[in-house]
Amino acid sequence: MIPPSLRAAGMPFQRLFGVWFLFSLTMGTLPVPTSALADSQRALELPVDHGKAPLPVANWTKSFWINSPGANPLAGEGSQGPLTEDADVCIIGSGLTGVSAAYHLGKQLEGRERAAPLKVVILDARDFCAGATGRNGGHLSPVAFASFNLALQRFGTDEVLRWLALERHTVTEVVKIIEEHGLQEAVDLTNGGRIELLITPEELTAAKADYKAAEAAGADLDDVKWLNEGETFGSSHPGYLHTGYNLWPLKFVTELYKLAAASPALNLTLHTRTPVTAVTPSNGSSTRPWTLNTPRGSVSCTRIIHATNAHVSHLLPHMSGPAGVIPVRAQVMALRAAAPLDSISRHAWTGNEGFEYWFPRPLEEGQEHPLVIIGGGREATLPKYELYVADDSAINPKAGAALRKFLPTLFPGKYEEGREPEMEWTGIMGYTASSDPFVGPVVDPSSSTNKYEGHFVSAGYSGHGMPRAFACAEALAQMVAAGIMGKSWSPPEWLPRHYLTNRVGLVQH
Ligand SMILES: Cc1cc2nc3c(=O)[nH]c(=O)nc-3n(C[C@H](O)[C@H](O)[C@H](O)COP(=O)(O)OP(=O)(O)OC[C@H]3O[C@@H](n4cnc5c(N)ncnc54)[C@H](O)[C@@H]3O)c2cc1C
Ligand SMILES: *[C@@H]1O[C@H](CO)[C@@H](O)[C@H](O)[C@H]1NC(C)=O
Ligand SMILES: *[C@@H]1O[C@H](CO)[C@@H](O)[C@H](O)[C@H]1NC(C)=O
Ligand SMILES: *[C@@H]1O[C@H](CO)[C@@H](O)[C@H](O)[C@H]1NC(C)=O
Repeated sequence: MIPPSLRAAGMPFQRLFGVWFLFSLTMGTLPVPTSALADSQRALELPVDHGKAPLPVANWTKSFWINSPGANPLAGEGSQGPLTEDADVCIIGSGLTGVSAAYHLGKQLEGRERAAPLKVVILDARDFCAGATGRNGGHLSPVAFASFNLALQRFGTDEVLRWLALERHTVTEVVKIIEEHGLQEAVDLTNGGRIELLITPEELTAAKADYKAAEAAGADLDDVKWLNEGETFGSSHPGYLHTGYNLWPLKFVTELYKLAAASPALNLTLHTRTPVTAVTPSNGSSTRPWTLNTPRGSVSCTRIIHATNAHVSHLLPHMSGPAGVIPVRAQVMALRAAAPLDSISRHAWTGNEGFEYWFPRPLEEGQEHPLVIIGGGREATLPKYELYVADDSAINPKAGAALRKFLPTLFPGKYEEGREPEMEWTGIMGYTASSDPFVGPVVDPSSSTNKYEGHFVSAGYSGHGMPRAFACAEALAQMVAAGIMGKSWSPPEWLPRHYLTNRVGLVQH
């Protein structure tokens, strides 16, 4: 329950504004306060003012990743002609989660003797991969130790180490697939490392404490290098460097789809621009238990994977609100730097406890200064941090104003003040109260009978899905494949047990 003190929105936000003014006095520079993480999570406790999430809007903002020429060859795949009427597994959503689930199903079922290929269909309301995965910051970095103490308090040592392991597993596997298939150029993979900038003294102290706790717990910290004020390319703040890659997320998902489609274990089809408006128990002639309803007709399925992230509660209403997944709008822009690539550094960066993240795109022919993709600015959208905003057809001018000023302020002389971005867009993330996703069979706690038999979900990455969605989809595909083959499933060592919807193997500490 929400404590009455938090219900009266005035109280905590007085304090929030207090922090805001404090930082503008002491630093006098950055357009947004840092260390807003805890306060934004607290906003999740505000009274719920919306029911289930809507379907994704049809008039979305154009993103650099989706709308660069030639970037989305599968955009309208399967949007016309006959709809696949029947499938063993229906996957709703063609982002990183849905396509990873198809890829892993192919891997899990490889080499099954005498079996016909599994009929799998992916449906998406919009163009291929035009949700969060087609609109994010393009970072692929496993967490090193940030927020280690907080997670330790909440979940205990085993679970925190699994969290770190899951992110390392994701990044290692994704990079391995890219390298094995020679896709580095196709997906613009760069291995520049990632710098977490520690902007306030409190952030530095907290980071040192997190590092110590992670070290004591036996976490692998070999890749971490501390940087002093003079080593962060003119930002004049300390920080640390650790493993980090960047890529073009839509292009990676496109390649992953091609690999899944080529799997001999699958008969895979894709229908874009086909929103699933309801899932109902089948009636009439179908032998499959479930029917997906779409404006183009219906699809009968035995198993369903909900890979709809921020929109998951549209079809699963019990997953709306703070006990489920809340849509939260995030904003990104493509801003041209005013200095050469090497002087602004190739790294990907974040403002650690703040919400900003950025990296320079590789230089294209004829370009002197790189295009920097920067996201964040939600701290400027108090008091609600864009919570419950599921409309990515518009941008938030306050977030936009903060983002425009952020880099010119942090790196004096390297960006032109007042310069307009070349593109600016929004996307919808799915937040949960724990900041961790729900992975596993769909369970409605209010119902004693299992009314979602055969439904699975992986959703709610809370703005941190790039290093997690691929592995969560792997766990899901293992469960689904085990069910198909009549085998039992036990979670892989790297999967935090508290992610699981049915809490298999979760030992309370
Ligand atoms: C602006 C922005 C910046 C981000 N930055 C980062 C970052 O720096 N690092 C990081 O790790 N993560 C980041 N994220 C989060 C990350 O992008 C997501 O966690 C991840 O992409 C989720 O993948 P997904 O496949 O689950 O969801 P999505 O990519 O959103 O895919 C869900 C798909 O489901 C479809 N869909 C929804 N409902 C229906 C329906 N009823 N019928 C049919 N289709 C439906 C949607 O159209 C969509 O294509 C960011 C997200 C945004 C929006
Ligand atoms: C794949 O499924 C479609 C129907 O969805 C069917 O027409 C086709 O023959 C199948 N292909 C294979 C190789 O089984
Ligand atoms: C069968 O299900 C569809 C939805 O899938 C529904 O519109 C229709 O009314 C149902 N028919 C009967 C006879 O229940
Ligand atoms: C996008 O479409 C929705 C629904 O039709 C509408 O409410 C919204 O204003 C549109 N957005 C823009 C920016 O036009």
